[in-house]
Amino acid sequence: MPEPNIIILPQLVERLKNAGHVAVLTGAGISAESGIPTFRDTEKGIWARFNAEEVATPEAFERNPTLVWQWYEERRKVIAEARPNPGHMALAHIEARVPRFTLITQNIDGLHRVAGSRNVLELHGNIHRARCAEEGTTVEEWPDDGEVPPRCARCGAMLRPDVVWFGEVPPVAELNASMVAAREADLFLSIGTSALVVPAASLPYHALQHGATLVEVNPEDTPLTKYASHVLQGPAGEVLPRLVAATWSE
Ligand code: OAD
Repeated sequence: MPEPNIIILPQLVERLKNAGHVAVLTGAGISAESGIPTFRDTEKGIWARFNAEEVATPEAFERNPTLVWQWYEERRKVIAEARPNPGHMALAHIEARVPRFTLITQNIDGLHRVAGSRNVLELHGNIHRARCAEEGTTVEEWPDDGEVPPRCARCGAMLRPDVVWFGEVPPVAELNASMVAAREADLFLSIGTSALVVPAASLPYHALQHGATLVEVNPEDTPLTKYASHVLQGPAGEVLPRLVAATWSE
């Protein structure tokens, strides 16, 4: 990882202090400092160790539902151990200080809400929920009776993780609300995402087209970097608390 290059310009501080609506898009990078691996890290990334086609597509679940359920069960264990880090906390602080705030996340770990964020749109679902593969009903608890995957208590069909897989579209209400937020934001922060997976990756461009100032927080360059007015090149857990302190220190 490159050395952090965190220069917070006074223009950014002013923009944040006076923003009417701040929208944020987060990805796996914001939870990296909580001990949850990202997807595309060349060595430790989830997709360096597993084939997405075999564990994160509707076809994979049709072919081998047991394997897919067990894979998510392993991820659920890692996530259950994780706690929000200073990056998550800083976003909750920003929400408490600006008139309007929308947090759009691709993460399924639920850590933003644990950190105190309220207006959270989970574009890729939540690993702590399952849903009936037939009826679509969602549940937060399921029987631990040895059946893998567990069964829907209403109809007996298989339960699947309530997450968005490759080849699926995000939930319509969340996606629409994200588009509205991107359009109406005057400051848009893209944090800890490789900005490669659509439709989430299209949101920063949508915000830019509608006049938002774009800020990127990421230790690495992404396809978005050249469009950002401010690039804070470091880990979110260091950058975001510094941004909050620089803006509301008095
Ligand atoms: P990626 O793994 O593609 O990207 C993580 C980004 O976080 C990279 O750009 C890293 O440089 C950056 N990063 C790493 N550590 C960081 C830190 N401490 N602070 C800030 N940034 C850091 O993850 P996503 O962009 O979230 O979808 O991936 C998007 C989607 O693709 C995921 O939701 C998932 C995945 O395949 C599905 O499973 C459908």
